[in-house]
Amino acid sequence: MSRVVTVRIVTSADLPFLTDMLWEAAAVDAGMREIGKAAALAMPLVSKYLNDWGRPGDGGVIAVDSTGTPLGAAWYRLFPEDAPGYGFVAADIPELSIGVNDAARGQGVGGGLIVALLEMAQSAGLRGVSLSVDRDNPALALYGRHGFRDAGISSPEETSVTMVMRFE
Ligand SMILES: CC(C)(COP(=O)(O)OP(=O)(O)OC[C@H]1O[C@@H](n2cnc3c(N)ncnc32)[C@H](O)[C@@H]1OP(=O)(O)O)[C@@H](O)C(=O)NCCC(=O)NCCS
Repeated sequence: MSRVVTVRIVTSADLPFLTDMLWEAAAVDAGMREIGKAAALAMPLVSKYLNDWGRPGDGGVIAVDSTGTPLGAAWYRLFPEDAPGYGFVAADIPELSIGVNDAARGQGVGGGLIVALLEMAQSAGLRGVSLSVDRDNPALALYGRHGFRDAGISSPEETSVTMVMRFE
């Protein structure tokens, strides 16, 4: 079944939904699922992806259906070298986070969000976008289709891999 999906820029009013999507992304990890949503979102290593949302360098897009109901979100954020995110590559390359509601997955929403977010990043003059993904997450293939490549930082023994999409 096809449906109308629109991708728009996030506003500060979308923060609760972004937080829900941060949980969807964190919950890929079994340990996080065990900890539970509220406790996981309170952990600095998770909350750092959204706290003080709207600071310089933040950017995001949200997919909504024809009724305006949010389906998924993707956003990027810069991290300093001394307090990096999981997918840190450089202080001037933001890290992508993405989540799509369970019921809306596998219908192209995530791909549309990635395309829109990369356009936003390129328009903002950024030289690339990075991310961290579990090696067994099927999203790895999705990222590859959108130009993300192994950044060459992660060792093969690590369960996750840092990927980067460079515009140059
Ligand atoms: C990863 C995610 C954002 C992709 O969004 P989506 O709307 O399902 O993506 P699309 O429909 O555009 O593309 C589907 C692709 O996503 C990947 N995918 C990952 N999890 C999926 C799921 N549960 N259902 C369907 N596809 C999934 C697959 O690569 C699939 O493509 P392929 O099977 O043809 O290779 C979404 O599945 C999700 O929120 N997953 C849980 C959170 C997560 O893993 N976040 C990323 C952490 S790095």
